[in-house]
Amino acid sequence: MYSSKINSKDFPKNFIWGVASSAYQTEGAWDSDGKENSIWDTFTNDKKFPNGNGNTATNFYHNYEDDIKKIKELNLSAFRFSISWSRIFPLGIGEPNQEGIDYYHAIIDCCIENGIEPWVTLYHWDLPQALENLGGWTNREIIDWFSYYADFCTKEYSSKIKKWIVLNEPMSFIGLGYFMGIHAPGKKGLKNFLPAAHHATLCQAEGGRIIRKNIPDAFIGTSFSCSVVTPKNLFRRHRKAAKRLDALLNRFFIEPALGLGYPTKDIPGLKRIEKYFQDGDEEFMKFDFDFIGIQYYFRIVAQYSFFPPLLFANEIPAKKRNVKTNNMGMEIYPKGLYKMLKKFSKYKNVKHIYITESGVCFDDELINGEVEDKNRIKYFKKTFVICSKAIKRGIKLKGYFVWTLVDNFEWADGFKPRFGIVYNDFETQKRTIKKSGYWLKSFLKK
Ligand code: GAL
Repeated sequence: MYSSKINSKDFPKNFIWGVASSAYQTEGAWDSDGKENSIWDTFTNDKKFPNGNGNTATNFYHNYEDDIKKIKELNLSAFRFSISWSRIFPLGIGEPNQEGIDYYHAIIDCCIENGIEPWVTLYHWDLPQALENLGGWTNREIIDWFSYYADFCTKEYSSKIKKWIVLNEPMSFIGLGYFMGIHAPGKKGLKNFLPAAHHATLCQAEGGRIIRKNIPDAFIGTSFSCSVVTPKNLFRRHRKAAKRLDALLNRFFIEPALGLGYPTKDIPGLKRIEKYFQDGDEEFMKFDFDFIGIQYYFRIVAQYSFFPPLLFANEIPAKKRNVKTNNMGMEIYPKGLYKMLKKFSKYKNVKHIYITESGVCFDDELINGEVEDKNRIKYFKKTFVICSKAIKRGIKLKGYFVWTLVDNFEWADGFKPRFGIVYNDFETQKRTIKKSGYWLKSFLKK
């Protein structure tokens, strides 16, 4: 299946090849030009946080012109980035910050001048701290706050941006940030998870409606994390555990948007989310997205477990399974991408699918001015073969965004996981295109 002979000509002419990033992981300039703290600024600048911070990150705030030129140099044609909410509204709502607004105009203009199409994510995890102080995603008022922000951005950038992504991976920022407490804002437990999750679902749909109203010709999507979940073995209790984890990780946020409601039939414990419903919410959760973004990184092997209660399932860590892992300890399992594409394309109302993130992290090293990241090239070859096969079998896959351009700040894991196709020296901010970057460049050569 994995013939290495894959060529960009195996893909339809209008297939989008892009690269993705996010504001907090790259911009730096955390307290410059009127910006106030986001939850990630607070979280990582706390003395207890061990893995550095994004105060400077890759200094994209100042380096954006060179980085955008690199996208062009590598023959990629689209750049997905996110807007930092607290640059536009330092306090979440209220007075907008002109310097923040101008900054994104400059990025967008730079993309356009270089022939790169900008794709904008409205929310990639960096909630303004001022809103977190009021309860953040657990407070239903987030619908008003998010609408205010989304309305402003979509009016401001309407003439230049047509491709919009409402949320980045709600299961990640709600699960890790409001249930496990290992991402910002570090909250834990179901009492935070359930309301936060429901409000994210409502914002996901409302964000779509706002974009549609302000930019009638916009192409609107939202992105979901996903993982292949396989049971430890074929015992019924493990199979059922895998089914619950699959419902939580892969179905929880897409199904309400499609009008199917939360998958609580398969995870009855989460029926408690209905406690946070108000009249009309079932309708409110729906939005007819033009496309969905899927972001696949690893496989999960599930087993029955007494903890956590309600879910009664947990994951057997990859390191205990003797499989190939990336340098964050996640299993490298490209084959799973095909399964995910198939799974998401089966939903009746999913019109187009984009892989809005895909990549792998290693301990890349710069030796004599070069980075030999052969394993990343292998990974791309395998995933591209899978994508081309999926298209040939009728899956409406329309684009692929590499995660990521430049090695950046990988959230709770800091700077160690290097995902870029361009190496970054975080001391000097000097960029060096890795072998995988050159490979991609020749793959995409017209
Ligand atoms: C995704 C996330 C990205 C990036 C990537 C690599 O879940 O959206 O921001 O961190 O994982 O781990």
